[in-house]
Amino acid sequence: MSGSDGHGAYHGAYGSFDRASIDRSGQAEAFDAIGDRYDEAFPHKEGQIAAGQWLADLLPPGSRVLDVGCGTGLPTARQLTDAGHRVTGIDVSPAMLKLCHDNVPEGEFLRVDMADLESSDLVPFDGAVAFFSLLMLPRVEIPFALRMLHEQIRDDGPLVIAMVEADVDDFSIPFLGNTIRVSGYLRDDLRRIVSEAGFEIASEDAYAYAPASTDVPPEIQLFLHCRRRP
Ligand SMILES: C[S@@+](CC[C@H](N)C(=O)[O-])C[C@H]1O[C@@H](n2cnc3c(N)ncnc32)[C@H](O)[C@@H]1O
Repeated sequence: MSGSDGHGAYHGAYGSFDRASIDRSGQAEAFDAIGDRYDEAFPHKEGQIAAGQWLADLLPPGSRVLDVGCGTGLPTARQLTDAGHRVTGIDVSPAMLKLCHDNVPEGEFLRVDMADLESSDLVPFDGAVAFFSLLMLPRVEIPFALRMLHEQIRDDGPLVIAMVEADVDDFSIPFLGNTIRVSGYLRDDLRRIVSEAGFEIASEDAYAYAPASTDVPPEIQLFLHCRRRP
């Protein structure tokens, strides 16, 4: 279990860190500025759609699914809603949340930092997706975030995560005319932290991806299809 001591410090199975030292500046603002250009820059989403389908097919219709860092709501919140599930999306960017409301009016979309999920009253969910959103955190936070997701999901519910394979921590990159900070892992390290957070990796896919935009470098996208270990 992880928890806060009431002074902004987190203590848990992965050690401790001072949450006050975490720099969130500019991350939401960058996505506010990017808006629906995000979908134009990343037009090919075969891996994300396949991963969303894996989760959608595992769950009975009407299941409650958490979309962490839901972005524009496309394709994932739309796909899960169309499959008959009830989607709650969280994001830090008001502009992204507005696009979600427009693209998926049936969904519930809330301005919540994933680091605050633990203290929200949104739980529990039957499954969760985190597509390219955990990578917005510094590495020190990612095992905590995964552990928190473990606590949000019921029983052996599914979790799908997508990350870019890269050995970087809170690394500034140009992104669609803005600067964002991202973290990543080489795949063995990613598998290890996901497993240590209490998830079995049922299957995984890797895609080489060249975004449509020239200021975003080519990348290897990793999709991990996981089941919560109760
Ligand atoms: C790279 S985009 C991915 C969007 C969407 N999941 C997709 O794959 O299309 C990352 C998203 O995470 C959101 N985000 C960044 N930091 C976050 C945080 N700490 N908590 C929740 N959402 C966050 C951003 O605003 C952005 O919408």
